[in-house]
Order: sequence, then structure tokens, then C-alpha cells
Amino acid sequence: MTAGLVTRLLPADRESVAEAGRTLNAGGLVAFPTETVYGLGADATNGPAIARLYAAKGRPAFNPLIAHVADVAGARALASFDAAAERLATAFWPGPLTLVLPKRPDCTVADLATAGLDSIAVRMPDHPVALDIVRALGRPVVAPSANRSGHVSPTTAAHVMADLRGLIDLILDGGPATVGVESTIVACLDRPALLRPGGLPRADIERVLGMPLAEPPPGAIELDAPLAPGMLASHYAPKAQLRLDAENVRPGEALLAFGVVPPGAERASRVLNLSVTADLVEAAANLFSYLRALDAINSPAIAVMKIPNEGLGEAINDRLARAAAPRG
Ligand code: TXA
Ligand code: MG
Repeated sequence: MTAGLVTRLLPADRESVAEAGRTLNAGGLVAFPTETVYGLGADATNGPAIARLYAAKGRPAFNPLIAHVADVAGARALASFDAAAERLATAFWPGPLTLVLPKRPDCTVADLATAGLDSIAVRMPDHPVALDIVRALGRPVVAPSANRSGHVSPTTAAHVMADLRGLIDLILDGGPATVGVESTIVACLDRPALLRPGGLPRADIERVLGMPLAEPPPGAIELDAPLAPGMLASHYAPKAQLRLDAENVRPGEALLAFGVVPPGAERASRVLNLSVTADLVEAAANLFSYLRALDAINSPAIAVMKIPNEGLGEAINDRLARAAAPRG
């Protein structure tokens, strides 16, 4: 177990990136910025390090991890790319897209990280610190979002500190994540299928593929798949109850606004506006940080205004629905 560690927080620079590489090489756990959210990294080839990563997150070990690579060649060494996967990697990497592909027989990633599946999730993040850390280690880095299981994903180093202090070795602070929601996950195992809406809008992917994305095939692993029906709820869940598509504010509620605030907003215990100009890109970047901030004031309930389901709105609404789901 890693409990009781001294967690160091360092500004991301050349020296701390080199230190991150050494720490990962020694089997340690390092949180680092990506363009989507902060990740908690371990050496993808080191089974015991990955076991410690699952323990630090409090995450069930059968939920597989994304292998982060520094270039497309690094991903090709792990997974088989079909024509659709090649097109998507060319169009969107580095960027907020994860591809689930057939695992190559000679893939070096530990079985624990892929939960024994014959597929593997790979991603080349669009962040210089993340890419430099992968290069410093010289091997792929598996990294889930750097939160305790059941909390919203971290978009700042302070969020990581709040969740994982004492449980991991090192956090590199590279400022707030610019995208703010996790990567979009597309499986190219058969016909390309959307497994998780995220930081790359569906329409952009469908334009490059020239066809609509399929629904996930039966049996596909979903975002933090529940152990049993009814256990899904607590992922992404703040303590406060979320009331979605709110058109007003009820007494005692905090307000997570989008665009022009509704009647009664002055009564809210606190108001945070995801985007005053109703810009979905800005709203995605603010989402997790504002959910954490509103949760911290201990309001029993948070009214959330309606978010259009286009562009990044699909990912925002997916995360809000999870946060609002009844607790398991
Ligand atoms: O933006 C992101 O993707 C962030 C940053 C750190 O890169 N990472 C992230 O990782 O969100 P995580 O572990 O929180 O979510 C990864 C999701 C999980 O829900 C997991 O079930 C799914 O990817 N996944 C991983 N491997 C898979 C596979 N072979 N088949 C289906 N789903 C898979
Ligand atoms: Mg996560």
C-alpha cells in the first residue's frame, strides 16, 4: 500500500519532468496534467506499480486503464490499427481522443492494466508535460483520472492534492486543464463505436469517418462499469443532490448556471456560471472545478441549468447525468 507517503507537489519544468520519469521507472505514482484532466500515471509495464495505482484510487481492478503514448508509433507497438483507427489518429492526435483497439500479442502493457481484455485503450495527449513524461520513462504510461474513485475528475493540481495526498509520490502542476472533460473514447474493433462522449465532439469524429458512430457493442466496458446494477451512481457524484434542467432556483439550492441566469438566482446559496456567453467549450473547462466548488459549500442541492446536447454538450450532459444519478 502507498498510504502514508509524502506527496511532493512540483511546478512542471524540465527538472520535475525528469524526476517524474525516475519515479515512474522506480514503480512510483505520478500525477500530471493533460489537456483533458489530470492523470495518475504508472509505468504501464509494471504490474505491482499498477496494483498500487488501483489501491491509491480505490478503484476496482477490473476497470481497465488508458495507455498514454508520445507518438503514433508508440501506440502501434501496443495495438492493431485498422483503416478507421489510422484516420482518427492522423486527424486527432495529439488530442482528447482515446482509441480502443485489438491488443497486439507482443503488447508490453501489464495484463492488470487491461483487465485481461484482448483490447487496449491508447491515447496520445495534447500536453507537452504529459508527452515529456512518457518520453522520460521511455515506455507507455497508464493513467486514469487522478481522483479517488467516486469523485469528479481533477482539472487542477490542487484537486489532485485534495484527493490523493499521502497516497501518491509526486504531482506535477502544469496549471488548469484546458479541455476540462475526459477524452472521447472510440472503439475500432468492429464498426467504430462511441464508448464515452468526451473532449472531442462526436460530429468531428463522424465527419472524418464519413459515417455515424455506432452504439457500444453489447458487453463493451462502460465508463467505470458498475460491479452490479445500481452501483454506477457514485462515480462523479458530489455529495449534494443535483437537479438537472432547472428553470428556477428553489430555497436552499446552489446554482450551476449556463448563459442567462433563471428567476430566483438571487436566492441561491451560491451561483457559479459555467459560461455567461453560453459557450460549451468554456463550460466544459469549468465543469468539474465548479462542481467541486459548489459541493464544498455543503448545499444540500445544486440546481443545474439545461445544457444543449451538441458539441461538447454531449460530454457535459453525460457527466452531469452521472453526478445526478441516485446513490448506489
Ligand atoms: O482524458 C482522459 O481520458 C483521462 C486522461 C488522464 O487521459 N483519463 C481517463 O481515464 O479518463 P479513466 O481511467 O478515468 O477512464 C478510462 C476509461 C474507463 O472507463 C475504462 O473502462 C475505459 O476507459 N477503458 C479502458 N480500456 C478499455 C477497453 N479495453 N475497452 C473498453 N473501455 C476501456
Ligand atoms: Mg476517471
